Amino acid sequence: MNRHARSRHRILMCPPDFFSVDHAINPWMAGNEGKLDQRLAMEQWTRLRDAVAQVADIELMDPLPDLPDLVFTANAGVVYGNKAVPSHFMPKERRPEEPYLEQWFIDHGFEVYGLPDDIGFEGAGDCLRDRGGPWLWTGYGFRTEIEAHALLADWLGAEVVSIKLTDSRFYHIDTCFCPLAGGYLMYFPGGFDRQSLQKIESRIPADKRIAVDGADAANFACNAINIDEHLFLHRASEDLRNRLAKHGFVVHEIELSEFLKSGGSAKCLSLRLTEPVG
Ligand code: ARG
Repeated sequence: MNRHARSRHRILMCPPDFFSVDHAINPWMAGNEGKLDQRLAMEQWTRLRDAVAQVADIELMDPLPDLPDLVFTANAGVVYGNKAVPSHFMPKERRPEEPYLEQWFIDHGFEVYGLPDDIGFEGAGDCLRDRGGPWLWTGYGFRTEIEAHALLADWLGAEVVSIKLTDSRFYHIDTCFCPLAGGYLMYFPGGFDRQSLQKIESRIPADKRIAVDGADAANFACNAINIDEHLFLHRASEDLRNRLAKHGFVVHEIELSEFLKSGGSAKCLSLRLTEPVG
């Protein structure tokens, strides 16, 4: 493959000007209310942006006061070709983001599909394209309802593989599951029920599965931004980095402590806007 001939991916990020933890809508936030170092958060976010900008084009969404979680652009919605399904959040604390996110997708030329009021879905936080096959791994159990899955399949015209999340620390699929270039998968098996593990094992051959342990999972190793062979993440153990290297992946560790206090890390802070259909 000629890397230079490929056009660069576009990644949506939102600066943390108004980022804060002042309520707890996931287990990581509990006890961290008011404990953020905002200056450090801005530094960490800037380092992540600058690192990813080496290999992809960064598009910025304007931050807004009173929307502290807007920084987590993975939850803006899911993108597939020129279609977008903006999030309809389960926690009421994030619902004020919705009109702004929907308008953002419209203004940027996406064909937008709106969820009915009684069905929750949290965007690319819970819906990830496989990087080897043409299906969407879609989570449910905490922040997305399974009723959303059929709508996604219908609207996007793609196969949806439903994955049940079972550990409240890993409440979005992107916190414990990361499809990687070449059809690899980095994941924390402890985050899923038996049936979901069977689905994973039936679709991803053993030599392409990179299982992480609880310690790496708790460091949000699976919450990685993957662009070609590059992985941007908060922290990965030496063992995990070695295993990834064996498959040709280069790990870039970027300290994101302030975002972990909100239950998010690198991948949550990004949304890939270039997701070709099929
Ligand atoms: N504090 C945010 C929330 O609970 C974190 C979102 C993390 N996003 C993600 N894609 N996992 O909604």
